[in-house]
Amino acid sequence: MKNLFLFCRSGYEKDCAAEIQQRAAELNVGGFVKTNVNDAYVIYQCFEEDGADTLAKELALSSLIFTRQMFAASELLVDLPEQDRVSPIVTALSELSKCGELRVETPDTNEAKELSAFCRKFTVPLRQGLKKSGALLGAENDRRPIIHVCFIGPGKAYAGYSLSNNSSPHFMGIPRLKMAADAPSRSSLKLDEAFGVFLTKDEQETRCRSGLNAVDLGACPGGWTYQLVRRGMMVAAIDNGPMDPKLMETGQVKHYRADGFRFEPPRKNIYWLVCDMVEKPARVAELMEAWAINGWFKEAIFNLKLPMKSRYKEVSTILETMATILTENEIDFKMQCKHLYHDRDEVTVHLWLFPEKGVSYA
Ligand SMILES: C[S@@+](CC[C@H](N)C(=O)[O-])C[C@H]1O[C@@H](n2cnc3c(N)ncnc32)[C@H](O)[C@@H]1O
Repeated sequence: MKNLFLFCRSGYEKDCAAEIQQRAAELNVGGFVKTNVNDAYVIYQCFEEDGADTLAKELALSSLIFTRQMFAASELLVDLPEQDRVSPIVTALSELSKCGELRVETPDTNEAKELSAFCRKFTVPLRQGLKKSGALLGAENDRRPIIHVCFIGPGKAYAGYSLSNNSSPHFMGIPRLKMAADAPSRSSLKLDEAFGVFLTKDEQETRCRSGLNAVDLGACPGGWTYQLVRRGMMVAAIDNGPMDPKLMETGQVKHYRADGFRFEPPRKNIYWLVCDMVEKPARVAELMEAWAINGWFKEAIFNLKLPMKSRYKEVSTILETMATILTENEIDFKMQCKHLYHDRDEVTVHLWLFPEKGVSYA
């Protein structure tokens, strides 16, 4: 297939486009970007017929910052006839066989969402048609490719597939998280989502569990601390503001009214460092580097506020600098950065130091 369809947040198409252009070029998959502001998706049209197949396989979704989900797609299907939209889609997907799941989606915009009810209903006859053609297996199978049909307007859709090992498990790449009634702030969902995106369920069980110590820089009113407490951790919450009283009653939180840029943990047995301070991204990155060089944490999740312009370039530069500094200090690490669904003008970074050494700060 020739097109790579990339889902992103509305308003971030340019960033998503700049990123795919660079990353596809690194893999020698030539092409050009087609996108419109606020469409919440980007098309990377490859020069080669199988360019998008190469990208769907070789470009790790987890390594892309501004893409929530992606799939290799055929040409845009237009004027799908109301009386039979199934047949043209089945024909467009004739090269697929034995896929394990069907997702009929839309970009994440208010206009496109008006099509959601239709998409839900349409899934039933389309599923039948794709099973009959052999494109889809009789029963769902989470190891087989996923068929995506994304309606960008009435009667207009891109159809294609993603590989299950290089795809978001979520419809439209958006995790549906419930805000807990007792969570002190909506920001709480950001850290909840970050744990789900950066760690598998098994990894969360071993690395996000009771007995571990955490530091939360810029903690008030406590949405992120809440997520750490919920997972059984002991948390040092650093902020001059007030913490949620209920969270303090758990006995798992120690509140330090201090400057997050000067705070030094009294005991150096911190597993998780999290940081949601609203500050210049380069300054936050420097702080994370300093903590890493001091060996004060094992894993960190932190936000980098995005500039107004050249967001992809700015973020990449900060991450490259951080990678260089860690390497110069002989720190082995894994780093991932994502524009999460619950992020707005920021991205979230996961940094794991000496990943081969496992959990040691229990
Ligand atoms: C976006 S809010 C954090 C929200 C929090 N993560 C939650 O989920 O409730 C940013 C916080 O960073 C704090 N902050 C900003 N600069 C700080 C600094 N230098 N030291 C400590 N806290 C700081 C602010 O007081 C504010 O409470």
